[in-house]
Amino acid sequence: MTDEIVVIPGDGIGNEVVPATRRVLEAVAPGFEFVEAGAGDAVKAETGTALPEATREHVADADATLFGAAGETAAEVILPLRSAVDSFVNVRPARAYPGVDAVRPETDLVFLRENTEGVYSGHESRLNENVSTLTRVVTESASERLAEYACDYVDDDAFTLVHKANVMQETDGLFRDTVARVADEHGVETDEVLMDAFATHVCLDPGQFDVVVCPNLAGDVLSDLAAGLVGGLGLLPSANVGPDNALFEPVHGTAPDIAGEGVANPAATMLSAAMLLDYLGHEASGQRVREAVETTLEQGPRTPDLGGSATTADVTEAVIDRL
Ligand code: NAI
Ligand code: MG
Repeated sequence: MTDEIVVIPGDGIGNEVVPATRRVLEAVAPGFEFVEAGAGDAVKAETGTALPEATREHVADADATLFGAAGETAAEVILPLRSAVDSFVNVRPARAYPGVDAVRPETDLVFLRENTEGVYSGHESRLNENVSTLTRVVTESASERLAEYACDYVDDDAFTLVHKANVMQETDGLFRDTVARVADEHGVETDEVLMDAFATHVCLDPGQFDVVVCPNLAGDVLSDLAAGLVGGLGLLPSANVGPDNALFEPVHGTAPDIAGEGVANPAATMLSAAMLLDYLGHEASGQRVREAVETTLEQGPRTPDLGGSATTADVTEAVIDRL
């Protein structure tokens, strides 16, 4: 059966790293049917809406989606797209690679980030000129779905539960209690770390962490922090996973400081594509992509963010050659 993959480059370097990654997918999985769709700042400037209904429908109906990044309209695009695939977990692996300068080369962990609520549930209001508010939503059902996924992910072993329930007693209290209960029901061990303390621990000794389960905002911030430990945002892939659909994207944004120069690091998006291949059951192809990207990170050519002078196109050719 042919898999239908929606491809949304978006804005900025999304237009560089996503086409490069599509070429990699075409090289390993020629059976895919690709549907190009638009979203982001440029689409909004042209049509008045950052996320056209047709794009949302394509994503909801596809087998999987590869997304780049959207600029100022990121929240208008990525949040509805995550709900279009009913994504309750954002899987964000952060690991160092041989050959890439890393602050902490022993880093090899995965964030399982709650993906629907917390402070990103969109309940913000402006009470008056000087006062604005934000409502933080935590539900037992979303926390349970995340915890079930985490137990499955660690294959009934153990994970670290990150929260701030000492201060946000109701919201993170419910999050912590629910995740801990589900883990207990599965016989999965958890250790709990407060999210501010986690930031220090992960910098000083990332090797002690393996799988980290955390609320939405914490996962967003801490995974970017982990990117800093392993060599930068150009390296971190992610998967927004739902019950029967998923959207894959690099953790980074549109990188306006380098967009248009042709030097964006495509590794994060290519590694996201490897996760997409795994998700669709093409594990051997996923592994081939990962190995080709890893060899290229180790032996070059490398883009300027990793200290090299290669272009996105040079790296892409090298990865495809190694496939
Ligand atoms: P960013 O991730 O775009 O860039 C941060 C820094 O990392 C920049 O110096 C950039 O050059 C570098 N960088 C990121 N990806 C890189 C790559 N592949 N290769 C080489 N260097 C790379 O984050 P920033 O600057 O905070 O946001 C820029 C725009 O992106 C904003 O408009 C923001 O709203 C949007 N954004 C969108 C996201 C999404 O669509 N999911 C996620 C994060 C930000
Ligand atoms: Mg982010």
